[in-house]
Amino acid sequence: MTTKQQVPPPETRWADELARLAEEPGARPPGWKMTPAAVVSFIVGNDRLKITRKFVGDVSLIERCVITLAGERALLLVGEPGTAKSMLSELLSVAICGTSGLTVQGSAGTTEDQLRYGWNYAQLLAQGPSEAALVDSPVLAAMRTGRVARIEEITRCLPEVQDGLVSVLSERRLVVPELGEYAVHAAPGFCVIATANLRDRGVTEMSAALKRRFNFEAVEPIDDADAEIALVAERTRQALIAAGAPETVDQVVVETLVTAFRDLRLGLSREGWSVEKPSTVLSTAEAVAISGSIALAGAFFPHARDGIRLIPGQLLGAVRKDDPDDGARLLAYWDSVVKRRAAEGNHTWAQLWDQRGVLQ
Ligand SMILES: Nc1ncnc2c1ncn2[C@@H]1O[C@H](COP(=O)(O)OP(=O)(O)OP(=O)(O)O)[C@@H](O)[C@H]1O
Ligand SMILES: [Mg+2]
Repeated sequence: MTTKQQVPPPETRWADELARLAEEPGARPPGWKMTPAAVVSFIVGNDRLKITRKFVGDVSLIERCVITLAGERALLLVGEPGTAKSMLSELLSVAICGTSGLTVQGSAGTTEDQLRYGWNYAQLLAQGPSEAALVDSPVLAAMRTGRVARIEEITRCLPEVQDGLVSVLSERRLVVPELGEYAVHAAPGFCVIATANLRDRGVTEMSAALKRRFNFEAVEPIDDADAEIALVAERTRQALIAAGAPETVDQVVVETLVTAFRDLRLGLSREGWSVEKPSTVLSTAEAVAISGSIALAGAFFPHARDGIRLIPGQLLGAVRKDDPDDGARLLAYWDSVVKRRAAEGNHTWAQLWDQRGVLQ
């Protein structure tokens, strides 16, 4: 019997789709569970095969990612926070090798052990270095079994720790000097997908040697407004279901919230009016989170039914997280775009305009 999980990993969540795609005929790179075309279908959806769309964006980006991995090149997904880099890396790895779990979470505290190998110290002290005392990192486990290793936020690791990957990526072999000649050779199918956030320590600090071993792919925010609105609405519906609330999503609230996010992110309203951009990132991921909170508040508290009224406070929270001056930029957005839309007779934006006091 399986117990319920708050966030089931993609291997469980999409088990059915993955099993069907693995049946699709065609040549596949060594060690791959499915063809490269099936991997792309898993991520961007396929009507014929009844595969849901998971990533909203450029199909050619996904194709390039898949080809990089098929050629046994390491892939580095870079972009602003909340552009679905981690989600993409999970989906790619689960489709290619059946697991998304061989993961190292990069941080300032990541050590070389976590990228290469460590020791079981009880055994090490009792018997000295031996193969049995070796503790594989997720990267080493992926090499042995020909699967995908994922390294999240690689640029947050110290450069000298990151460089532990250089020989793994070029020689496809990891030597354990403590065991003499012992080395682990990567099985066919082994590859690495890393993600890096342009806002934290950037890729500029990565060593040239390591950079050269990765294919960089930039993941951009969602270009199409309707697609972003649909995605946020769908994720909001899922949040309501997960919380045991009725799954009715207020489309007007979602559309208004995403429109404000996009205006502020792009520095340009959909009418073409210029907007002073806050320095903070207003990602789709954050729009999903805020839209979910507003919908849940409305579902559980009668006084919060009118979601539009909650937008200004939520936006202010999102905007002010990095720079307090961004609060003033939000107010400037109200005094320009929100005011103009209200003056043109738009009921929803007039309601927002009435809420201006929340921002002061
Ligand atoms: N293009 C997109 N397609 C589908 N979902 C998206 C897209 N952009 C953002 N999302 C939503 O954003 C969520 C968070 O994405 P994720 O955590 O993968 O972002 P990230 O780029 O890794 O962010 P960070 O840099 O902060 O780690 C996803 O689960 C999804 O709901
Ligand atoms: Mg991430």
